[in-house]
Amino acid sequence: MADEPETPGATIEDYLLEDRTFPPPPAFKAVALVVDTTMYDAANEDFEGFWARQAADLITWQRPWDTVLDWQLPFAKWFVGGRLNASENCLDRHVEAGLGERVAFHWEGEPGDTRTLTYADLLAEVQRFANVLKGLGVEKGDRVAIYMPMIPELPVALLACARVGAAHSVVFGGFSADSLSDRINDAECKVVVTADGGWRRGQPGLLKPTVDVALASTPSVEHVVVVDRIASSGGEAEVAMTDGRDHWYHELMAEAATECAPEPMDSEDLLYLLYTSGTTGKPKGIMHTTGGYLTQVAFTHKYVFDLHPETDVYWCTADVGWVTGHSYIVYGPLANGATSVMYEGTPDTPGRDRFWDLVERYQVSILYTAPTAIRTFMKWGAAEPEKHDLSSLRVLGSVGEPINPEAWIWYHEHIGASRCPIVDTWWQTETGAIMISPLPGATTTKPGSATFPLPGIAAELVDNDAEVVPRGGGYLTLTRPWPAMLRGIYGDPERYRDTYWSRFEGRYFAGDGAKIDSDGYLWVLGRVDDVMNISGHRISTTEVESALVDNPKVAEAAVVGAKDDVTGQAIVAFVTLRGGVEPGAGVGEELRDHVANKIGKISRPKTIVFTDDLPKTRSGKIMRRLLRDVAEGRELGDTTTLADPAVVEEIRKRAMSAPSDD
Ligand code: PRX
Repeated sequence: MADEPETPGATIEDYLLEDRTFPPPPAFKAVALVVDTTMYDAANEDFEGFWARQAADLITWQRPWDTVLDWQLPFAKWFVGGRLNASENCLDRHVEAGLGERVAFHWEGEPGDTRTLTYADLLAEVQRFANVLKGLGVEKGDRVAIYMPMIPELPVALLACARVGAAHSVVFGGFSADSLSDRINDAECKVVVTADGGWRRGQPGLLKPTVDVALASTPSVEHVVVVDRIASSGGEAEVAMTDGRDHWYHELMAEAATECAPEPMDSEDLLYLLYTSGTTGKPKGIMHTTGGYLTQVAFTHKYVFDLHPETDVYWCTADVGWVTGHSYIVYGPLANGATSVMYEGTPDTPGRDRFWDLVERYQVSILYTAPTAIRTFMKWGAAEPEKHDLSSLRVLGSVGEPINPEAWIWYHEHIGASRCPIVDTWWQTETGAIMISPLPGATTTKPGSATFPLPGIAAELVDNDAEVVPRGGGYLTLTRPWPAMLRGIYGDPERYRDTYWSRFEGRYFAGDGAKIDSDGYLWVLGRVDDVMNISGHRISTTEVESALVDNPKVAEAAVVGAKDDVTGQAIVAFVTLRGGVEPGAGVGEELRDHVANKIGKISRPKTIVFTDDLPKTRSGKIMRRLLRDVAEGRELGDTTTLADPAVVEEIRKRAMSAPSDD
C-alpha cells in the first residue's frame, strides 16, 4: 500500500475551492459566541471538568455521579455512580417546568396528514406505551427491536423503552427480513414494535410482511406490536396477525394505565443498540449508554445548532433508523426542549418542493440534512426552493458524508440566502454525537471542511507509522475518550478492541481519511476501509459480496464504492459467473434483486460488471483499489503486485459497456 491513505470518497482535487472562506455573518446573534476560544482552551486543559459542567447544566440527575470518568483504555465509564432516566430528561422535567404546551413534534405524513404533539402529549403517550411494554413482559435490561416508518409512534417507542430501562434496537425500515432477524437474534430481543407500513412516493411501503418472514427464525421474540399507519390513513395494507403474538398498538394503548414512573438507571446502563456495517459481513451492535450519551447529544445539539428552544423550529431530515435520527431527532432535541418538524416521506412527493413547502409552513429555522439530498436538490434546480419563502431559516447543517464545495455553496446561496452559517458535522454511529464541526456565528467556515474538533474533543491525523501529521493527509484518530462514545460491540469486546483501538496504539481509529490544510482546517475525505458510504448510509463491501455469492449463479464477486455525483458513492459489483451461466441484463437484474432481498434496497448495486476473472495479488487477495480505479474511469494505479495484469485491462473494457441501474 502507498504511504498516503487512500481517499475513496473524494480526492484532494475536489477541494480546490478550499481557500474560499465564509466569515460568520456580523449580525448573527449566537449562543455559540459564548463558546469562544477560552472555552476551547479550558476544555482542553481540563476536559473532564468541562464535560462535568455540561452534564450538570444540561441533564437532570436523580443521583449525582461519584467519578466523572473511569478510563481503562479502551473501556470508558462516564459519570460513574450517577443515576438518571433518559425519558424523564426528554419529557417530565420540561412538563414540570411549565413547558407542557410547547410543541415537541410538528409531524407530517407523506399524504399530508398532520399531528402536533406537545411535550405533555408526548409524555402521556410514552407513559402509556411504557405500560404496554411492561404488560408484554418487558423488564429493565431487556432488548426491544423497533422496525417502523417515520411516524410519531417511533420516538414514542424509543422513549418508552428508555422509561422502563429496556434497550431499543432500531432497524431501518429499508432493511430486509434477513437483516432484521440477524439483528433481533444477536440482541435476543423480546418484543418487536412495527407498523403495517409507511408512505413512500405515494405508495404504502409494507413492513409487517417483512417482520413475519423475519420472525420465522427469531426464537427470543414473544410479542409484536403493530401500528396501523397505512390502514388508518386511507391505504390498503393486508396484515396477518398471529394470535397471541401480534397486537394492535391502538388496542393495547386504549387499555394501558396512564402513569408510569421512569426507572432509575445507572449512568452506564445500556440505552440502546444500533447495528452498523463494518468491514466484515456481520454488522456490529454498537452500544450506547445513558449519562454520557445524553450529555453530549444535548451539548452538541444546543451549541452546534445555536439552539434557542423558545423560538426555534428545528428539522433534521434523517430517519430514526440511523444514528442521526437517534441523537438529533429524539434524544438531543427533546433533552433540550426543542420544537421539531418530523416528516414521514420523500422530498419529491407530491412535488419536488416538498421540503421547502415544509420549511415555509412550519417556519423552520434550523435545517439539518445530508449532502446527497443537497446534491439532488441542486439537480432539480433552484426554481423549486424559490417557490417558497425560506426566510425563517437561520442555521443549516450537513451530515453523513463529505460535502463537496459546489454543493456547500449551492446550499449556502440557494437555501441559506448567503446569510445562514453552515455547520458541516463529522461524527459516526460509534461516536454517538457530533465531534468535529464549526460553531455557527463563531467559526469562519470553508466549504467542504468540517473545520475543528468541538470543545472537549481531541482529534489528530496520523500516518501509517502512527506518526502525527500536523498538516497534510492522514488517518483520522481521536486521542481522548468522549462522553457519548460507544461502550463496545454487543457481545464482542474483542472485536471492539480490534476494530477501533488496535491499529494505532492508544488511539481510536475512525476509519476515515482526512487532511489538515495550511490554516489548520480539517477536511474529512471518506472511508479508508472496506466500508462504502452511499447517500450517507454505511454499507460494507464484504456484506454485499456475501449476498452476491449466495446466489447459485455467482462464482466470485468483488464490490467497490465508486464516486457518484449525487449519492457520494455508488455500489459497483464485479461478478464472475459460474460455468455455463451467460452474462446479460437478465442476470444483472436478478443479482441486484438478490442483494436487495438479502440485505435491503439500499444495498442494491448500481452497476454490475461481468468479468471472467478478478484482479488478485499473488497471495489471492482481491485488489479493490484497482477495481475502484476501473469503476471511476481513472488511470490504473500500481499493478505490479497483480498475479495477472492483463485481467484489469479486460475488466476495464467490460466496465465501459456495463449498464447502470439509474
Ligand atoms: O465516513 C464518515 C462519514 O460517515 C461515517 C459514519 O457513518 P455512520 O456511522 O452511518 O454515521 C453517519 C451519521 C453521523 C464516517 O466514518 N461522515 C459522517 N459525517 C461526515 C462524514 N464524512 C465527511 N464529513 C462529514 N460531516
